[in-house]
Amino acid sequence: MKPLRIALTKGRLEKDTVELFEKIGYNCEQVHNKGRKLILPVGNGEIEVVLAKAADVITYVENGVCDLGVVGKDTILENGTSFYELLDLGFGKCKFALACKKGYDFYSGYKEKTIATKYPNVTRAFFEEKGMDVRVIKIEGSVELAPLVGLADGIVDIVETGSTLKANNLEVIEWVTDISARLIANIASLKLRKQEIEQLQKKMQEEISKN
Ligand code: PRP
Repeated sequence: MKPLRIALTKGRLEKDTVELFEKIGYNCEQVHNKGRKLILPVGNGEIEVVLAKAADVITYVENGVCDLGVVGKDTILENGTSFYELLDLGFGKCKFALACKKGYDFYSGYKEKTIATKYPNVTRAFFEEKGMDVRVIKIEGSVELAPLVGLADGIVDIVETGSTLKANNLEVIEWVTDISARLIANIASLKLRKQEIEQLQKKMQEEISKN
């Protein structure tokens, strides 16, 4: 039988997922000693881990080359939904927030506001719900810079500890939504490999609920 292939978001979520796999009894030695390898067996070969960037995890799962994926809710909200979301894994917790320079009265005045973000879809949806027109500028990283140099009135970005905002004299105006890592599944895989997927999901779920 082909191994279940699961795409993990490289970095923190990868580490937390591997920890979870180990807790439920899968040997992850090869992932620990991966070097530059991107596809690694887990357990006795019943699972194969694929390491990818967050948005690519969704692409691999949507296209059916990976049965499962572990990715942040932030990436899910930004990048589409042609897959099943099976489980909130409870790690990778942070929040989306609207923030601006400390003391700036964001909602005052009639001039259209400019928002910098790595998440234009999330940002548009947030302001659409408010019925507020904004101009959205896509930034690739260190979004906090944008209001400081005068590119934007505010940012929509991820806040975890809040230390990046604090260090740059920015403050949260409004929380947008909570974020955490999710287990996602390809739609066809969930039909074709239902038993294996449900078994793994159940084991993960049981371990998570211990915390
Ligand atoms: C994320 C986010 C914030 C920071 C928030 O950036 O975009 O900048 O972490 O964390 P904090 O509240 O604990 O300070 P990341 O480190 O992913 O870098 P990037 O924005 O440059 O991609």
